[in-house]
Amino acid sequence: MKYLITGANGQLAKEFAKIIDGDLFAYPREKLDISDEKELKDCIDFVKPSILINTAAYNNVDGAETDFEMAYKINAVSVGKLAEYCERYKTKIVHFSTDYVFGGKKDHIPYTEDDKPEPLNKYGFTKLEGEKNLIKNYENFIIFRVSWLYGDGKQNFIYKFKSWSEKSKMIKVSVDEVSVPTPVKMVAEVTMKAIKNDLRGLWHLIPDGFVSRYDWAKKINEILNLNIDLIKASQSDFNSPAKRPEFSAMNNNKIKRDLSVGIKSWEEYLYDYLVLKK
Ligand SMILES: NC(=O)c1ccc[n+]([C@@H]2O[C@H](COP(=O)([O-])OP(=O)(O)OC[C@H]3O[C@@H](n4cnc5c(N)ncnc54)[C@H](OP(=O)(O)O)[C@@H]3O)[C@@H](O)[C@H]2O)c1
Repeated sequence: MKYLITGANGQLAKEFAKIIDGDLFAYPREKLDISDEKELKDCIDFVKPSILINTAAYNNVDGAETDFEMAYKINAVSVGKLAEYCERYKTKIVHFSTDYVFGGKKDHIPYTEDDKPEPLNKYGFTKLEGEKNLIKNYENFIIFRVSWLYGDGKQNFIYKFKSWSEKSKMIKVSVDEVSVPTPVKMVAEVTMKAIKNDLRGLWHLIPDGFVSRYDWAKKINEILNLNIDLIKASQSDFNSPAKRPEFSAMNNNKIKRDLSVGIKSWEEYLYDYLVLKK
C-alpha cells in the first residue's frame, strides 16, 4: 500500500506517520501546498497513492472570517481537486471534516450523520463545501467529522490551556460551547481500521459523551493539579470574530456499528493522554 499524507506537520498527520506500516509519502505544506493545483497534480501523479490521507486544512476558525478566500480554496476547492487528480489511480481518499458544520441549536441531543448541516461561521461553511466537493465527484472516499482534536502539537486547547496556566492563575473559559474532545490517536487508529475494511462514506468519529469547554478545562486542571482559578465565561466575553456553535457534540453510533469498534468516553481518553501518556 502506498500512502500519501498532506499537511504532514499537523497533529493528526504526525499520528498517522507513527502507525502507518507501508510505503509512506508524508508532505508538509512547504513541499506540497494543496491549494496549488499544479503542485497537487504533479505530486499525485508522482506518488500514485493507493490511499491519500488529507489532513491539510485551513484551521484558523477566527482567521477564516476575514481570510475567507484562502480558507475556501484550501478547505473546499482543493478537496474537489484531490478527487479529480486521484480518479485515474482509483485512490481511496480519506478526508476530515468538523462538528462546526452544525449550527448548534439542537437541545443537547448529539448530531447524527442524518442531521442537516447549518454552519454558523465561515470555517464551518468552507469545510462543508469540501465535503460536498468530495462526495459529488468521487466514490471511494471516507469522510470523518471530528471535533476538538488534541495530540502532539501546539494548535489544541490542552496545549494552550497549559501555556496560559504558566502565565496566570485565573483563566476564563466559556460555558456556552459544548462538544467532544477527541484524541488524534483514537482518530488515526479507527481510520486505519476503516481503511483495512474498505469503508466508504461519511461518519462522525469522536469519543462517547460531551462536555462544555469550561468543564473540559476543569478536568484538565484537576488531572494535572494546575491549581487554576477557573472563571465561567460566555463566548461574547471574548469578542472572537467567529461565532462557535453552542452545542455541536456528535453521535458516534454509526461508526461503532459499521466498523464493530469500541470507543471510550472522552474522559477516559483524556486520562490516558495526560496521565498514562498513551
Ligand atoms: N484541530 C481541531 O480541533 C479540529 C476540529 C475539527 C476538525 N478538524 C479537522 O481535522 C483535520 C486535521 O486537523 P489537525 O488538528 O491535525 O490540524 P493542524 O494540526 O492544524 O494541521 C493542519 C496542517 O495543514 C497544513 N496546511 C494548511 N494549509 C495547507 C495547504 N494549503 N497545503 C498543505 N498543507 C496545509 C498546516 O500547515 P501550516 O501549519 O504550515 O499552516 C498544518 O500543518 C483537518 O481537516 C481539520 O479541519 C480539526
